[in-house]
Amino acid sequence: MKVGISNDHAAVELKNSVMEHLKSEGYEVVNYGTDSHESYDYPIAGATLAKAVLNKEVDLGIAICGTGVGISIACNKHKGIRACCCSEATSARLTREHNNANIICFGARIVSTELANDIVDAFLKTPFSNGERHNKRIRQIVEIEENQ
Ligand code: RB5
Repeated sequence: MKVGISNDHAAVELKNSVMEHLKSEGYEVVNYGTDSHESYDYPIAGATLAKAVLNKEVDLGIAICGTGVGISIACNKHKGIRACCCSEATSARLTREHNNANIICFGARIVSTELANDIVDAFLKTPFSNGERHNKRIRQIVEIEENQ
């Protein structure tokens, strides 16, 4: 599986440790984020990753800023992106199972390295359930997007 990762200046270290973890687990990882501590705006970091997911350059995405919130809002502005901001692994698993989320977001100022690894493992290892009730609700989200 090819995984994209992006981050702002607040999340350089956590991005690097998550990348190392993912590579050790055998994932191909593409870094779309900043490697500098100079201010790098989270909407740019989110948009770059969202476009890569929509263009199918990568299968799934991981987006990290200080809280995870700003970058998730930016990702979710892109039609076809379902980005989940969370701070624990259960939500990361359920957002794949139920929402077919394609980007997981979390905060470098909120979660530890170990928790970040648990979150990405749960997200990447869980398939969409493809249950009819979930598909119906995702179609309703698509309808909302189409009617904007
Ligand atoms: C940057 O300082 C910070 O605002 C950003 O990383 C993020 O937490 C925004 O939601």
